[in-house]
Amino acid sequence: MTRITVNQASDYVGQTVEIAGWLYNLRRSGKIAFPIVRDGHGIMQCVAVKNQLPEELFETIKNLTQESSLIVTGKIRAEQRAPGGYEMDVENVDVVQRVPEADPYPITPKEHGVDFLMDHRHLWLRSQRQHAAIKVRHEVIKAVRDYFDSHGFTLVDTPIFTPAACEGTTTLFEVDYFDDDKAYLTQSGQLYNEATAMAFGKVYCFGPTFRAEKSKTRRHLTEFWMVEPEMAYATLEDVKRVAEEMIVFIVGRVLENRREELKRLERDVTKLEAIQAPFPRMTYDDAVKLLQSKGSEIQWGGDFGGTDETILTADQPSCIMVDRFPASFKAFYFEPDPERPELVLGVDVLAPEGYGEIIGGGQRIHDVELLLKRIEEHHLPKEAFDWYIDLRKYGSVPHGGFGMGIERCVAWICGLEHIRETIAFPRMLNRLHP
Ligand code: 4AD
Ligand code: MG
Repeated sequence: MTRITVNQASDYVGQTVEIAGWLYNLRRSGKIAFPIVRDGHGIMQCVAVKNQLPEELFETIKNLTQESSLIVTGKIRAEQRAPGGYEMDVENVDVVQRVPEADPYPITPKEHGVDFLMDHRHLWLRSQRQHAAIKVRHEVIKAVRDYFDSHGFTLVDTPIFTPAACEGTTTLFEVDYFDDDKAYLTQSGQLYNEATAMAFGKVYCFGPTFRAEKSKTRRHLTEFWMVEPEMAYATLEDVKRVAEEMIVFIVGRVLENRREELKRLERDVTKLEAIQAPFPRMTYDDAVKLLQSKGSEIQWGGDFGGTDETILTADQPSCIMVDRFPASFKAFYFEPDPERPELVLGVDVLAPEGYGEIIGGGQRIHDVELLLKRIEEHHLPKEAFDWYIDLRKYGSVPHGGFGMGIERCVAWICGLEHIRETIAFPRMLNRLHP
């Protein structure tokens, strides 16, 4: 028997094939049963007619329980009214494991609270919306890789155990690393990317990063995946151009390949179709003025809060870029603005509809004396940065890059309220399980 996946049904109309999956739902009357089967690739409505099947088999089908695993054999028929456009006329069902009535599948079509669903995340992933979000995530990651791979970037992955902070010491996860030594889980691959950029010109890393942030917001995970390009001989303007081009590319890919999923997520795709270059640009100075005019309490010199980012992007049709932040709240490595040294050449890309920051990056310090001064001002252990300082001694050049958190990008593209649904097993302040 030919086994197909549900998404291949259109190639098998009129043929008898088998589908291996799980029972998603079951509707039945006395003489007919409609087992709805999902196989990870799609959902197939099956039709089992009592007087066309052995009695025992019809009884088995009629009494199937939700999420029982089964292999259905039947003939594929085009059916406009069916969810995917095809139906299967059942000829046989092999039940692989029947979920017992006494201990039924815990997630039912009724409404469940999000804590309950998160506790059952290992099962919740089978639900349609969750499935769609993870499919979009895969598409985003593939698009990111394709973008960099086709623009001359070399993939060089960076370590997860690191000896020092990159993004500030308050959000480091510390781990024991043999013989009384301490290591930290990486917050960002950037510092290592700066080394590899001097070896390869243009690089990117893509991997998990960790922040021991005590933030309980819809935008924060303690473990998230970040893609980080870094370019030698590059300025803030180059960084902005690449960030913009990459985002337009990603959104285009999702619109091209994941329409089904966006529909299932009830995403308004016209909002995504509006994502076109060039993105509006504004300086931090102007952003602060705009925020104040809209009632924010922010003062010049303060970092944006989540609410500020929401205000800035709430009625923006596209992403916006904010640059030239005060050095006071930015990481030690940012190159100062030559015209106003109290500012740094950093840029954040904010996603529209209130999603806020999805990218942070900028130009790095390339002068060794200035770097040493900053390391001291930030009370960072110089020994841990010896190798990083070397990069300013042996062929230093202006360079820059950025980091994009995959989950924030996916949450925005999917139109999800909370970032926790964009990763299979989210890690948050209050969640390490399952
Ligand atoms: O702005 P961040 O902290 O920048 C860096 O780590 C730089 N070293 C990156 C670079 O220039 N190579 O983080 C970059 C992005 C943010 O814009 C956001 O998308 C994501 O990483 N991010 C988080 N995502 C989920 N949960 C968190 N706690 C995050 N913190 C940052
Ligand atoms: Mg940032």
